[in-house]
Amino acid sequence: MKNVTELNHPLIEHKLSILRDKHTGTKEFRELVGEIGAYLVYEAMRDVPLEKTTVETPIKTIEMGRLNEDNFVFAPIMRAGMGLLDGVINVIPNAKIAHVGMYRDEETFEPVNYFFKAPEDIANREVIILDPMLATGGSACDAIDLFKKKGVKKMRFICLIAAPEGLEKVTSLHPDVPITCAHIDDTLNENKYIVPGLGDAGDRIFGTK
Ligand code: PRP
Ligand code: URA
Repeated sequence: MKNVTELNHPLIEHKLSILRDKHTGTKEFRELVGEIGAYLVYEAMRDVPLEKTTVETPIKTIEMGRLNEDNFVFAPIMRAGMGLLDGVINVIPNAKIAHVGMYRDEETFEPVNYFFKAPEDIANREVIILDPMLATGGSACDAIDLFKKKGVKKMRFICLIAAPEGLEKVTSLHPDVPITCAHIDDTLNENKYIVPGLGDAGDRIFGTK
């Protein structure tokens, strides 16, 4: 699928096999979400532009690229997106953080936005939206819309598991937003949960069920 990158690596499959397992406890689940989140950011930033800088090594002075970390904003979609934050902030420690509060209505499966707080100058920054699950794509699309309304021009979306239905929706409504995921699953069930998926990511991260 155009503009969608799936991590394809035996170690990611190994980690996903533990994450998906219903017997995996909260502590290990949380740690794995953060860890895979870091790998996702590395992949998502593959084409990121660097600024030229001069570095004096003990041996020689060279020109090389450096990231302007201040330019980036991580935007977890709450609650479950918060689980990715620890891992990704280790990769770009000076990034800013925007919080997007959203939950899926249990009957309509439509996202409801209950909170939004972003840096004041968000329009001049690049936003990396975080959410472990991309199911119908409703939450992702609404979050992207919120940032576009604030004037953000460059966004990336990262998730652990994506359903083909959601990817289709996000890539057709927002072809300018590249998506990086750890795995594309088979489909959605009648309750719009990803199959095989890993269950309810928020509940498993926060131990609420
Ligand atoms: C989950 C998940 C996404 C959304 C995906 O959140 O973290 O935000 O569902 O579904 P969609 O693609 O069909 O919109 P949920 O609404 O369960 O809230 P939570 O993170 O607070 O548990
Ligand atoms: N939200 C989740 O947490 N899991 C799914 O499978 C779908 C939406």
